[in-house]
Amino acid sequence: MKSLQKLATIALAIILMGSCTAQEEATTLKDALKDYFYIGTALNVPQVAGQDPQAIEIVKTHFNSVVAENCMKMMYLQPEEGVFFWDEADAFIEFAEANDMQVIGHTLVWHSQAPRWMFVDENGDQVSRERLIERMKTHVQTVVERYKGRVHGWDVVNETILDDGSWRQSPWVRIIGPEFVQMAFEFAHEIDPDVELYYNDYSVSRPEKRDGIYNMVKDLIDNGVKIDAVGLQGHLSMDFPTVEMKEEALQKLASLGVKVMVTEMDITVLPWPSRRHSAEVSLNYEISDEYNPYPNGLSEESYTALMDKYVDFFEMFMRNKDIISRVTVWGVDDNQSWRNNWPIRGRTDYPLLFDRDYQPKSAVTRIIELANAKKQ
Ligand code: XIL
Repeated sequence: MKSLQKLATIALAIILMGSCTAQEEATTLKDALKDYFYIGTALNVPQVAGQDPQAIEIVKTHFNSVVAENCMKMMYLQPEEGVFFWDEADAFIEFAEANDMQVIGHTLVWHSQAPRWMFVDENGDQVSRERLIERMKTHVQTVVERYKGRVHGWDVVNETILDDGSWRQSPWVRIIGPEFVQMAFEFAHEIDPDVELYYNDYSVSRPEKRDGIYNMVKDLIDNGVKIDAVGLQGHLSMDFPTVEMKEEALQKLASLGVKVMVTEMDITVLPWPSRRHSAEVSLNYEISDEYNPYPNGLSEESYTALMDKYVDFFEMFMRNKDIISRVTVWGVDDNQSWRNNWPIRGRTDYPLLFDRDYQPKSAVTRIIELANAKKQ
């Protein structure tokens, strides 16, 4: 009898131990990665409006940070001078708050998706420098004021350095000059001294671009400007950039004493229609079968290679958790991804962590396992 009791006690202990370990093992991205960095995703307007409940379920389960894919960009928030449209951005922030998620504001000053009126006067001529500074100030300060205390960090300036490290000759640079960057940061800081302020860009793994951004951020810091982090967008391809290039860029920028973040990650498996990779949003090539090789599903080989790529990048991010504050993917499921329409409209791409049926890809499980294993 005694030995039976003993056996039962041992069996119970084993069961309890098992369930304890099972409890410690995280099963979602946000739980697995919580000691590493925030894990975010971009949300579109239909999702926030409740028209895509399956995507929202994924967001609630796996992510703890969100960014608006479009509705907080300048042309949506201020379509006409002095006329602000808040409905969609308000709904996005309310969703995040209701679900206890970190809110990232994207983006205050960008050359793309800026309203046309911004750069012209009432005669249709180029607006004066003073007036453009005034308009930028009004926009930045009105938006930051509205969401003061509710947004964790703002992408203050997006994409002002080109791949060769030089300044993009956008209307902001042409009319105001490179100092528009410092002004934008100061305008935002004046209104909300606590909010984090970021510079965000693509192809930062390219050494020339990385160094151009490094120099710009260094100047900002030397001038006493508050800048909390640099965002590396991460619109990747299978062959560019390598994990090593990205790691080098992250570490070099972090050596300035700012945090770094991966802000818009997706990985295309589709062929790139030119010799040079980029995430320049104005690119637009013609569709053809050659450039749309997987309209009905990914080949086994490409799927495996894509999963490996995701895991390799996340492994590197985890290794660099001391400098990386957030990793955000640019969308929830493959069906919604902008990559289906950029840089060629109408393709079928597979760039995200959840597929068209809202199922997690194997990289999700592998990233979770990796994070769990590293914690032990
Ligand atoms: C993209 C959106 O995903 C698209 O829906 C929109 O048509 C164009 O912009 N860099 C950025 C993002 O900073 O704002 C862009 O988002 C993708 C590239």
